[in-house]
Amino acid sequence: MINDKKEDFFENVRLTEKEDSVVILDQTELPNKEMYSELKGIDDFYRAISALQVRGAPAIGICAGFAMAVEAKRLSLIPNLSEEKFFEEIHKAKCYLDSARPTAVNLSRMTDRVEKTALMNAGKGLSEIAGICIRESRLIQSEDSEMCSKIAEYGLSLVKSGDGILTHCNAGPLATSRYGTGLGSLFLGKERGYEFHVYSDETRPLMQGARLTSYELNRAGIDVTVICDNMASIVMKQGKINACFVGCDRVAANGDTANKVGTSGVAVLAKHYGIPFYVFCPSSTIDFDCPTGEDIVIEERGEEEISALYFEKPIVPIGVKCYNPAFDVTDGELITAIVTEKGICRAPYKESLCKLFGK
Ligand code: MRU
Repeated sequence: MINDKKEDFFENVRLTEKEDSVVILDQTELPNKEMYSELKGIDDFYRAISALQVRGAPAIGICAGFAMAVEAKRLSLIPNLSEEKFFEEIHKAKCYLDSARPTAVNLSRMTDRVEKTALMNAGKGLSEIAGICIRESRLIQSEDSEMCSKIAEYGLSLVKSGDGILTHCNAGPLATSRYGTGLGSLFLGKERGYEFHVYSDETRPLMQGARLTSYELNRAGIDVTVICDNMASIVMKQGKINACFVGCDRVAANGDTANKVGTSGVAVLAKHYGIPFYVFCPSSTIDFDCPTGEDIVIEERGEEEISALYFEKPIVPIGVKCYNPAFDVTDGELITAIVTEKGICRAPYKESLCKLFGK
């Protein structure tokens, strides 16, 4: 049985009781401060998502779903607003939110879901439509939590107590709703008495591995060691790693997978050393409309994240260019299996993903 004591996990995205705002745990402040911020207007949501205060594909989707619902409620309270104008504004909000981060498909998928739910209920009056949007956004969050629990169960069947696991970026509860995807099996295993030795790549430039993964695992009493990204090869060669576990932001129909930049390098190394490389995701991250990794838009972020953000003084000479793609694509052929809430898919992914999800 999965432990459902919710207080063991972070409440990283929460719709407030009044249902007119959302409180997020600001991930840019971790691990030094557990600071919560309230998001009210659509600009607050856009900023929080693009600044990575809330991050990780499923968590972005959950937050954006709530953003749409909160916006629907705000619009419903405007006196004499027509349904036509309401839907026009809802669509504007969706497009604006979607532009905050292009790679994680969960974002546009969840804004789409709330917008479509609203449209399906056209004619019922704005207050009722807004209420339906709120319910739908809560459903997005609870469904994610259920999917993560199932993914954790499947993932646990791939490892044994005592294993060394290498992970990249952060795919834990902070990035989702509860257990997480790539880290979910480790939390679940801990509850069942497994001991894992986790190596967390620091994940340059934004340090999600050093700041967030180590924080979550350490807090749960799971043995975690942070390594620089360029140390993955040595720990693999030394026999410390039995499996690599990572999350993802979009899976193309052929199994090519976008995740935090550096992930594909880990997969190449894992193949070289004969170590299984597992990708974890809920079905909300699989994009059957995207044929291959070539079709995934890779977000490019500011140069200062490389040159200055986490340093007292800039580490790159002024005027020297930096290139900062936030994600890379791991070719499906490097992936041992894709672990979803419905089961575990193996290559050829074009067939196995379609079969599992009835496409
Ligand atoms: O830029 P981020 O921190 O949002 O990138 C997140 C990742 O790459 C995660 O690995 C991915 O979203 C999976 S989260 C379960």
